Amino acid sequence: VKTIGVLTSGGDAPGMNAAVRAVVRTAIAYGCQVKGIQKGYSGLLEEEIIDLYAGSVSDIINRGGTFLYTARCEEFRTPEGQKKGADICRKHGIDSVVVIGGDGSFQGARQLAANGINTIGVPGTIDLDIACTDYTIGFDTAVNTAMEAIDKVRDTSTSHERCSIIEVMGRNAGYIALWCGIANGAEDILLPELYNYDEEALIDHIIANRRRGKKHHIIINAEGVGHSTSMAKRIEAATGIETRATILGHLQRGGSPTAKDRVMASVMGAYAVDALMGGKSNRVVAYKDGKYVDYDIEEALAMQKEIDPFQYSVAKILAR
Ligand code: F6P
Repeated sequence: VKTIGVLTSGGDAPGMNAAVRAVVRTAIAYGCQVKGIQKGYSGLLEEEIIDLYAGSVSDIINRGGTFLYTARCEEFRTPEGQKKGADICRKHGIDSVVVIGGDGSFQGARQLAANGINTIGVPGTIDLDIACTDYTIGFDTAVNTAMEAIDKVRDTSTSHERCSIIEVMGRNAGYIALWCGIANGAEDILLPELYNYDEEALIDHIIANRRRGKKHHIIINAEGVGHSTSMAKRIEAATGIETRATILGHLQRGGSPTAKDRVMASVMGAYAVDALMGGKSNRVVAYKDGKYVDYDIEEALAMQKEIDPFQYSVAKILAR
């Protein structure tokens, strides 16, 4: 391993900068050269490649987003695009690449490896929807950001004695919703994985709570369930309680990373370089059962992940 490329791909996530910084500085400590591939696989195909030095990653550990920029790239899904990407790596002297992103980005890493480039994936997504790992870069910050926003909605919701539906991100996964549901003490949590969506039961719950004297009713709705605005209209019509929908959206992806995201992203970035230097390739870094580990990409992509039923049952019991 002589020259390591690093890229961020898919949706950005707070802490990605800390991971890039760790890759750059660890690689330099090993005596390697480092190249930043901008805008993910799409920048690779456009040869948007820059030299990175220890100083290039100064002053970024505290910043949200990714200073390498990111993108989703259709062309890299094709065998021609994948071969072209590997050839461009070779042209720039890049023998190894650290890919920071989600499952889709790891598919790309696997194809780069199949085309002769050493690759290591680092899990970066606010959604926490990567099966092989209990932690993904950005989730902690996103949950804290959403939690603070929901607290604010709750203040006004209580003052007006309203019902509030707050939709959080997560694509098809309900982890942000479940964590906010517990952290914000929501009355209901709607998850794509577990919620057997029964609007009548939801409406009955809202009416029963109001009869018991509750001044607010906070519903955390996962993006994967969606339809918050129409749901609010139906709930208001059925309950007679003013109901508002708030879709938090991209604010959840931004902001300065939490200490947890900075530290774990730093460790994972360093781990990725250690793995390359130890002769590994086509692997994904993960945090599993309290330890940093790595898995074969194919094996990692085949794993399934479920919402912890105990955590969900706790959320239900506390939401009274
Ligand atoms: O994967 C991160 C994420 O923010 C998801 O939670 C969401 O579904 C998606 O990306 C939004 O993507 P975009 O920024 O392209 O609208």
